[in-house]
Amino acid sequence: MPGERIVVVTGASSGIGEATARLLARKGWRCVLVARREDRLRAVADEIGAEVELCDVGDRDAVEAMAARILGRHPQIHLLVNNAGMPARGTFLVVDPETIRRVTDVNYLGGVWCTRALLTGLTSAAAAGERAHVVNLVSVAGTTAFAPAGAYAASKHAQLAFSRSLASALSGSGIAVHAVLPGFVETEGFPQKGVLKSRLLGRFVIQPPRVAEAVLTAVEKGRREVTVPWFPYRPISVLQALVPGVVGRFAGMSDYRPGSV
Ligand SMILES: NC(=O)c1ccc[n+]([C@@H]2O[C@H](COP(=O)([O-])OP(=O)(O)OC[C@H]3O[C@@H](n4cnc5c(N)ncnc54)[C@H](OP(=O)(O)O)[C@@H]3O)[C@@H](O)[C@H]2O)c1
Repeated sequence: MPGERIVVVTGASSGIGEATARLLARKGWRCVLVARREDRLRAVADEIGAEVELCDVGDRDAVEAMAARILGRHPQIHLLVNNAGMPARGTFLVVDPETIRRVTDVNYLGGVWCTRALLTGLTSAAAAGERAHVVNLVSVAGTTAFAPAGAYAASKHAQLAFSRSLASALSGSGIAVHAVLPGFVETEGFPQKGVLKSRLLGRFVIQPPRVAEAVLTAVEKGRREVTVPWFPYRPISVLQALVPGVVGRFAGMSDYRPGSV
């Protein structure tokens, strides 16, 4: 439909991706929802009038096929939200090697493959004079090495580096790149309340709709990086850069309750 704004949201079958798709649909965006669980994805899509694409974002061939189908229907893509992600709780010493590989494939490379595969759609929207956007759902773990989830933090550091370098590479192209860095958010894949050992960190757990609002703010206000909530996470990120040893000791002390992950 002419004038329609198209958004592709990966990982839209639950949590932050689902909340983001619901918010964007309410704001008039035409949503294409991407994930692997068909029943969950279709239930959300039916409610908000969205399209469904089943895809494992860690599988590059599958991503290219998915992008070709989307671009066949929508030659212009105005917003890509790279949100699909998985946890990898446990230190680098205990997490099994397959999980270390898989979390890198999904959390970091998944966004790389989706962005590359959908770039022609984003470029086409920008060429038509409409600003296009990529939002990468990173994490405070992208700036802070959180020992109890070491491989996850490493995947998120890589994802943030991807986001920052992509922003520079696309500067002046009409495609803006944003990173949203949530702290702890209560979701299916990442249960937080009651499993974090630190009661202090437990007090800062937020819900997915708050992150969805941060995604919208990043796009509407052109914010390059948004940490949500700002406190205590932004100061922690700055401290990590300035005094990594101190933050490392603090992050090493916090952990998840045994048997909860
Ligand atoms: N919750 C937190 O505390 C937190 C904090 C900071 C950042 N984040 C980030 O936020 C993003 C969303 O996580 P969430 O908390 O909303 O968790 P969630 O409720 O478990 O949602 C994860 C979503 O990603 C999809 N997904 C997982 N692996 C996939 C794959 N290989 N291919 C395609 N889709 C896949 C899942 O769908 P299917 O299983 O149906 O494929 C689901 O829709 C992740 O990138 C996560 O790292 C979360």
